[in-house]
Amino acid sequence: MRTPVIAGNWKMYKTAGESAAFVKEFLPLVAGVQGVEIVLSPPFPSLSIVGALTAGTNVGVASQNVHFAAEGAYTGEVSPGMVKDAGARYAIIGHSERRQYFAETDESVNRKVKAALAAGLVPIMCLGETLQERESGKTFPVVERQLRTGLAEVSAAEAPKVIVAYEPVWAIGTGKTATKEQAQEVHAFLRGILKELFGEPVALAVRILYGGSVKPENISELMAQPDIDGALVGGASLKANAFAGIVKFK
Ligand code: 13P
Repeated sequence: MRTPVIAGNWKMYKTAGESAAFVKEFLPLVAGVQGVEIVLSPPFPSLSIVGALTAGTNVGVASQNVHFAAEGAYTGEVSPGMVKDAGARYAIIGHSERRQYFAETDESVNRKVKAALAAGLVPIMCLGETLQERESGKTFPVVERQLRTGLAEVSAAEAPKVIVAYEPVWAIGTGKTATKEQAQEVHAFLRGILKELFGEPVALAVRILYGGSVKPENISELMAQPDIDGALVGGASLKANAFAGIVKFK
């Protein structure tokens, strides 16, 4: 009932030329894939070229961040309208690396989610606990706060457009994937909060992705979980073959 989403977050990798080469290699590998939303998230300077090369294909494009204002004196920032104009349909918001290194908060994430929705972009809102939070038994309160604050003032009409990405910080880039049971437990918990916030039909419509050391070898068991609706992939999305293998998880 929920269309799965497999999104590749390239982080700060690939020049425009490298991005174009990836797309040319990748498109034929996934040309026949149906019933999966495939998304590539290149760095800002590659958005236009990836947007142009994927136009009219089954591959969509996401920015890795957006500012919350439509325009203004914000040196170094990029607005939702600008990334949309460059060909993006989605925007990753609140990735843990942005929270950790660039001082993003639940409140700034919320402003960005609302701005992305207002611009007609699909927010991919990231959340997840640190290792210390997990080991001290705080996983559920932390992700609950991140979800509730991140979606504050989002209406039940807009909420189904939002994609949530659960990325436990301890699983990102570490090779240490959450077990399918650990991921499913948090995804089911998040869906329960969505039900409290927006009602059951919305909670059943929102896609919740898992991220953190997803590879071709572990995607199938993750996707077999009832509340895991896709993946946000870092390292393994940088190689066309590996990412195509994840896209074709079925
Ligand atoms: P890795 O897949 O490299 O662990 O990164 C996950 C991630 O942060 C995707 O946004």
